[in-house]
Amino acid sequence: TPGTATARAYPNIALVKYWGKRDEELILPVAGSLSLTLDALPTTTTVRLAPDAEADAFALNDAPQTGEAAARVSRFLDRVRGLAGSGARAVVDSRNEAPTGAGLASSASGFAALATAAARAYGLELAPRELSRLARRGSGSAARSIVPGVAVWHAGDDDAGSFAEPVPAPELRMVIATVDTAQKAVSSRAAMRRTALTSPFFPAWITSTEESLAAMLEACAAGDFTRIGRITEAHAMRMHAVIQSCDPPIRYLAPASVALFDRIAALRGEGLEAYGTADAGPNVCAIVRPEQAEELADELRGLGGRLGLGAEAVRVVGPGPGA
Ligand code: DP6
Repeated sequence: TPGTATARAYPNIALVKYWGKRDEELILPVAGSLSLTLDALPTTTTVRLAPDAEADAFALNDAPQTGEAAARVSRFLDRVRGLAGSGARAVVDSRNEAPTGAGLASSASGFAALATAAARAYGLELAPRELSRLARRGSGSAARSIVPGVAVWHAGDDDAGSFAEPVPAPELRMVIATVDTAQKAVSSRAAMRRTALTSPFFPAWITSTEESLAAMLEACAAGDFTRIGRITEAHAMRMHAVIQSCDPPIRYLAPASVALFDRIAALRGEGLEAYGTADAGPNVCAIVRPEQAEELADELRGLGGRLGLGAEAVRVVGPGPGA
């Protein structure tokens, strides 16, 4: 049916993080970032134009949404309507397999799927770069979920220059240890604003991220797993350090997260080479070479059992498709 489109997009986990905006309206980041789009936990979204309706409707996992979630979808659709020259309202149905708000990047897969489906439903023909720019306006990290596998999001000087594109990189697997699926206490959006406004370390965070990204792009081009891993883990610790340094402070890592990071470091001494990272939540993701992924998952499952995490808490994921 013209006016109806369905899209699927996958979450991504950043190895070099996006944390802070230079322009909140355009969602331009203070620095570039780099991520792995996953092959699990997708969001699937259908957008159907409803020319006779007076308002947009948004349902997530069959539950009609109101308030800020619905308003954010509607504001995003306004942008698409502006590009398409259309006034038609839409019915948006989204299904999310990742626990929402738990640091598993559900806003990334969500806005990447919404951008892709809405662009098509409203008849826009957007190249991947334009689609990435559009998704960015919903949620910054969504710009990267348009792209398959490893993606770099260029900070850009303006709207046109701030998009994600693929980067050649060695084969990676990620082992995700879900520590907690509850909604986080402070959203990424609010926490990155507080970090920029109150952390004395924020200027150093920006320059350090730029350096990490340049080094990471070199390491990816060289296929140097060890270097990719070391940059990933040091950079993740720096992000959590700058977040903890705000006023009032914010701490996303839980005791179980710290135990997982310690175990990953100890395993390196035993010949299992993995490196950890965590987004704005307590879940820990470790990158590992494909041939050691199952061994790492078994080790983290063992620890997870002792920490009281469920049997389903640890899973191996790989590079996934673009939206
Ligand atoms: C810690 O993309 O959710 O996951 O642009 O305000 O929607 P908004 O923020 P969002 O922040 C993601 C933060 C992060 C790091 C990352 O994905 O790079």
